Parts: sequence; C-alpha cells; structure tokens
Amino acid sequence: MGSLLAISDLHITYAENRAIIEGLRPESSDDWLLVAGDVADQVPDIEWALGLLAERFAKVIWAPGNHELWTVAADPVQARGVERYEALVTMCRRLGVVTPEDPYERWEGEGGPVLVAPLFIGYDYSFHAPGCSSKDESLAYAHETGVVCADEVHLHPDPYPTRDEWCRARVALTEPRLAACDLPLVLVNHYPLVREPTKILHYPEFAQWCGTELTADWHTRFTTAAMVYGHLHIPRITHHDGVLFQEVSLGYPREWRRHGHPHGILRRILPASIRV
Ligand SMILES: [Fe+2]
Ligand SMILES: [Fe+2]
Repeated sequence: MGSLLAISDLHITYAENRAIIEGLRPESSDDWLLVAGDVADQVPDIEWALGLLAERFAKVIWAPGNHELWTVAADPVQARGVERYEALVTMCRRLGVVTPEDPYERWEGEGGPVLVAPLFIGYDYSFHAPGCSSKDESLAYAHETGVVCADEVHLHPDPYPTRDEWCRARVALTEPRLAACDLPLVLVNHYPLVREPTKILHYPEFAQWCGTELTADWHTRFTTAAMVYGHLHIPRITHHDGVLFQEVSLGYPREWRRHGHPHGILRRILPASIRV
C-alpha cells in the first residue's frame, strides 16, 4: 500500500538540489508524489525534473510555483503569464503529470479515500506589510526596506493587467470545483491558504507575495484532510482550525545546509503520522 508523499521548492538550478532530486526514489511502487511548485526557473529544467519523477512515482501531481512562471532571458521558452502556464500544463500532460487543469485524482490508500486537488492560486498583496492597509502602501513599504520579490520583474500576468487580478480570476475558477467535491480534500498549492504561516517570516513585508486573504476559510469551508504548500522555505507542520498544514520545501542549498532536513526530504501526507 503506497503513501501520499510531497515536496516543493526543488530549485534544481542548483547542482546540489539537482543531485538530491536525482537520488529520490519512492518507498513503494504505489507512492504518489505531490510537487507544490518552484521546480526550477526554466522550462528544460522543469521538464527534466518532472519527467524523472513521473518515471519513478506511480503518480506525480504538480501545482505551479512563482519560479515556473518567471520568464527569464536564458529560457528557450519566452512565453509570459497565462500562455506560459498553459505551455507548462501541456508539457505536464505529455509527461503524464497531473496539473490544476485536470480532474482531481482519487487516492484510495490508507487515510483515504481523498481527492487530491492541485491548485494554482497566487497572491493578491492582501497579506499587507506591517501598518499598511492597501496593496499600494504595502508595496511602497517593501520598496523602502528593499525587500521586494523578484516576481515584480520576472512574473508577468499577461493578459491580465496585474498579478492580483490573475489571482482573483483563479480563485473564482477554483471555488466551484472544490465546492462540488464529495470526498475530503488534500489541497496542494504553492502558497499557504491562510496567512498564519507567514507570521514567522524574517521580513514580514515579504508576506504580500505569499498568498491571499480570499482563501482564508477554504480549509474549513471545504472538508480538508491536509493542506500542502511551500514557497516560504521554512519546512514545518502547523494546524489551523484543526486542519494539518505542511510546508514541504527543500529550499536553497544555503538554507538546508543551515537547518538540515528536519522532516526528511520527501514528506508523508497520508497515511498521516500526525494526528490532531
Ligand atoms: Fe521557492
Ligand atoms: Fe516560491
């Protein structure tokens, strides 16, 4: 009987991280792997990593991170915004990797049955910087302190005018899909669906690039077995309203060299080892 395993923030542009991914193997031939975004910045690297994992795991389910959505000069794929996301989805389908555009997969192993829902919900700057009450104030605060996410340069929302409008459109598209589900959900998103996990960020103004208030009640409104996220590069386990949240990032070599891999590299989501 397999497990539902998870990882995020592979950032395989770094050779040490690439070596870690090369060494990843399932524990059982039935294991599924959830990949919660930030595989790499360029399409050939993303394709290499997801292709490798799809060959090894019974199923790979991917949710995009901000890094996959960057358009950088060195990337042979220069598509921006929605067009880039759609190109990634097409690539995943070719590799047999499940995306947020596919039907939610039913996992029948121990701790199931659950539906695994990969999400593409970005951010809308509503996790305001300290003392700020609007996006404009928050961004101005960040520009003053110098803590500005590189998304502002590399993540284009085309054809949406702004990243927050793209985020709101994704929220509107996703809510009815979740509401129609009749089994407990494992929600997989690059960003946490609640703000609390961002409260320990070293630079609190970075939180505005880490999610949206629009999803604050999703884990209670929709029956949720677990919420899996990354992006913060702070691997840990928390509970919100009795629901288990796991930050499953590998992170940059300079980060994991400092804190190690306190929960292992592949994180088990189901069967749950942690009970609320
Ligand atoms: Fe990351
Ligand atoms: Fe990220």
